[in-house]
Amino acid sequence: MAQLWGGRFTKETDRLVYNFNASLSFDKRLYKQDIKGSMAHASMLAKQGILTEKEKEEILSGLQEILVDIENGKLEFSPEYEDIHSFVEANLIARKGNAGKKLHTGRSRNDQVALDMKMYVREEIQETDGLLKELLETLHKLMKENIHTYMPGFTHLQKAQPVTVAHHLGAYFEMFKRDRSRLTDTKKRLNLCPLGSGALAGTTYPLDREYTARVLGFDGPTLNSMDSVADRDYLIEFLSDLSMIMMHLSRFCEEMILWNSNEYQFVELDDAYSTGSSIMPQKKNPDIAELVRGKTGRVYGALVSLLTTMKGLPLAYNKDMQEDKELAFDAMDTAKGCIALFNGMISTLEFKKENMENSAKNGFTNATDAADYLVNRGVPFRDAHSIVGRLVLYCLEKNIALEEMSLEEYKAISPVFEEDIYEAISMKNCVEKRNTIGAPGSVAMETVLKQNEKYLEE
Ligand code: ARG
Repeated sequence: MAQLWGGRFTKETDRLVYNFNASLSFDKRLYKQDIKGSMAHASMLAKQGILTEKEKEEILSGLQEILVDIENGKLEFSPEYEDIHSFVEANLIARKGNAGKKLHTGRSRNDQVALDMKMYVREEIQETDGLLKELLETLHKLMKENIHTYMPGFTHLQKAQPVTVAHHLGAYFEMFKRDRSRLTDTKKRLNLCPLGSGALAGTTYPLDREYTARVLGFDGPTLNSMDSVADRDYLIEFLSDLSMIMMHLSRFCEEMILWNSNEYQFVELDDAYSTGSSIMPQKKNPDIAELVRGKTGRVYGALVSLLTTMKGLPLAYNKDMQEDKELAFDAMDTAKGCIALFNGMISTLEFKKENMENSAKNGFTNATDAADYLVNRGVPFRDAHSIVGRLVLYCLEKNIALEEMSLEEYKAISPVFEEDIYEAISMKNCVEKRNTIGAPGSVAMETVLKQNEKYLEE
């Protein structure tokens, strides 16, 4: 357990202390970012005359070899190293001797870990965004196929007004679109480079921070060295973005579970996305949807955990901040996995169109349209509302739908009704007449679909 900071110590670290302090078992996944960051740092040191060209070449080739050896499994993450930074540096020194010992000039693990984690999150944002885009493509396809698939829209989980499957899915399209734009915002704020901030107070070497920032794909360097090493806002923001994505997926899953239930029968999940029961032979359970809903809590947990870790920390770096990794990595893996699985689940499920339309037909989802019919014939809306309320009561007593009443029965409650009431309250009319921007009518839907198509092409 040769520690890279062992100089001022006279005793070996206790084994339990060592294990408690070490982070290699989980920060090893930052190896690529750590090596890339070190390469940029070494190139900059040489450019500034702090390292010779030869030393730089040795460091770069050593780091490249380490990268290759890790990737082809030749170099294993042995637990004798405290963290990924010590691991890479010790291996470099073993390979290149004195040149390797010069790599850490003008740098601290504090700015190093801040850099690694930012670069890692930046890539995760990219990958999550790509998965969301694929999900949106699936939704777009399903929407195009279901502009005329009628179903009940709900409020309070009570049938309210008829909508279409395209319209219902379109609501989720908007949510995931907002999720993507939140990721873009997070990336933009994140994209300033902390490298060169040192432990907390910068350094006396003439580092070119603009150069390393540029080489590593940042928009520029961070402007306060204490903030650089103490900031985990970007990670909290990302975890919040992921929590929001999970919340949307979870609501969607809840609906798929309901719709797939024996009572609703609006959809049938594909066999490949369902599981059976060990005792009840008839069962086909929506476990995948339930697991996505369940894992949402885990992602929220990571967000709340990091917020809590950070809330009492004085400036600048504190070891508490090492706790930013395990739960965050877990949240990132979980969210990506859930988006991909959810995408597979909805692209393979079957919409039971007839059941959905039949369900929309009973439950008086056309009652508002009956009231609107009266309004169009001069009846004030409040009176129309009351008249249709009486119609509904009458229908409930006779156990029939509004469209099953005879014209005489209509006229007995209000003489304003004529033969054309039947057309006015037909399912088709109820949906197709609703063409304000964002409404379920097919004219309005086509406009939105065109905009979505453009959005997906960008
Ligand atoms: N493993 C540490 C972390 O994840 C790296 C930084 C260590 N810095 C220090 N001063 N001990 O935060």
